Amino acid sequence: MYKKLLSWSNDQHSHLPWRVNRSLYVTLVSEIMLQQTTVQTVVNHIDKFLEKYPTLESLAQSTEEEVCIAWKGLGYYRRARNLLNAAKEIKERFNGDIPVDIETLKSIKGIGDYTANAIVGIGAGKKALAVDANLERVIARLFAIDVVKGPKLQKEIYRRFYDKEILKELTNKNSRKLNEAFMDLGRVICQSRKADCLICPMNKSCESYKLGKVDLIPNVQSKTVEKHDLELLRVVVVKNKKVLGYVKSSKQWLHGQIEVPTFIIKSTDKKIVQYPKAPSKLKNLMEGKVSFKSSITKYKITNHILEMSEKEFSKFFNSDDFDFYKKDFDNVNFTTTTIKLLNKVL
Ligand code: ADE
Repeated sequence: MYKKLLSWSNDQHSHLPWRVNRSLYVTLVSEIMLQQTTVQTVVNHIDKFLEKYPTLESLAQSTEEEVCIAWKGLGYYRRARNLLNAAKEIKERFNGDIPVDIETLKSIKGIGDYTANAIVGIGAGKKALAVDANLERVIARLFAIDVVKGPKLQKEIYRRFYDKEILKELTNKNSRKLNEAFMDLGRVICQSRKADCLICPMNKSCESYKLGKVDLIPNVQSKTVEKHDLELLRVVVVKNKKVLGYVKSSKQWLHGQIEVPTFIIKSTDKKIVQYPKAPSKLKNLMEGKVSFKSSITKYKITNHILEMSEKEFSKFFNSDDFDFYKKDFDNVNFTTTTIKLLNKVL
């Protein structure tokens, strides 16, 4: 049933670097990188990361700051911290040997269902199913599973798989190749808004295709997220080629990254606590200043940039809450918006 799919995947996609140069450690790194990031971005960055951290030991000995620097370009830095913590925990609890059973892997902080199944199925080549967004869509379509997309659907897929209701042909022998082939299919052919069924190597056995329901599965229940407007004051203070900033805490967006002093001017969300409020005296200084738009989660942001001297800044704000950071964008972990605004004014 999967012969055509496996040979298509092997012909087209076996060159991906983490497939050529496989080990449990490379799988741990690549699978964490591949969450929320495109294959192409990971292709562009993984070799450099593995040059710096060729083994789990080398990674476990590193620091959060160093790992975040090596993670540059991959975004979502929480994953870099999770990876480092997982490496440390594996070194301490398992003597540096990555476990290859799902429950033990899931007992490691930062490793969830997906990563555990990917390490076992792809890294160790043992029977497992790594249900990411691509697999979720492909498997739901293949077996016409009409459960609402998201955690419920993923759980249902795992249940059917581990209860041997579906994918009985997936064994230790083909687990690695089949998991990857499903991922390739989801990425290239069975896309969410564009399913190329005519050229799909699975079209003959796809239940949704046979039922004419490819556009209806996965079942997407539309949920409208309320959008909020947010106006922020971004203060730029430069001294000796360094920029005033602060490291974002674990309770804030973009934890661990550096941002210029930022204050709320106004928001349609009265409950927002991501930043302190801007002093009202400053609001009239804002007239005619450069601004630009950005967005994060449910907020549409207008960023107003205000340049100040250090002395002026200390009249309005507590300077002890901030430090000066070198303006070296290659090495310092500034937020993307901070880089954008510094590029506008410096
Ligand atoms: N997405 C997540 N893991 C992947 C893999 N191993 N190959 C291709 N795409 C992926």
